[in-house]
Amino acid sequence: MLHPDIKTALMQIVIINGPNLNLLGQREPGIYGNQSFTAYLDHLHRTFPSISIEYFQNNVEGELINCLHDCMQRKVDGIVLNPGAYTHTSLAIADAVGAIGLPVIEVHISNVFAREEYRKTSFIASRCIGSISGLGLHGYELAIRHLAHIQESI
Ligand code: DQA
Repeated sequence: MLHPDIKTALMQIVIINGPNLNLLGQREPGIYGNQSFTAYLDHLHRTFPSISIEYFQNNVEGELINCLHDCMQRKVDGIVLNPGAYTHTSLAIADAVGAIGLPVIEVHISNVFAREEYRKTSFIASRCIGSISGLGLHGYELAIRHLAHIQESI
């Protein structure tokens, strides 16, 4: 019999991308790059073979909230959230992040602080354990590394 302290289940991380992020690779490549998220997800799965990484993308605010609630019910270990433009507008997504009690890292592909004024405000950031902005798709990998790091120290 395994010692009860030995963790057998894979760590479960969910990446949630908001509106227009289904167009990565085609959308404003000068800002968001040439790679599709599907291709990048393959890279993440190869990089972290011992972590279960699920991906959810939706263009509808309420669907993002439903996904956050679902993560709470399933008690996933961590969430990487890029709410897209809802970052700057959505009190409802911010409330959901606060409500679920899970570690959430906010990721932005572009440097939102070097763009238009209205992108400098995030309703989400204060409800997250941290934020990454401007490091391209690599920000998702860094966020997963941090979630794995805090999981190991529990
Ligand atoms: C974004 C930044 C947002 O301002 C923008 O609306 C997006 C993408 C990013 O990843 O850089 O859709 O979240």
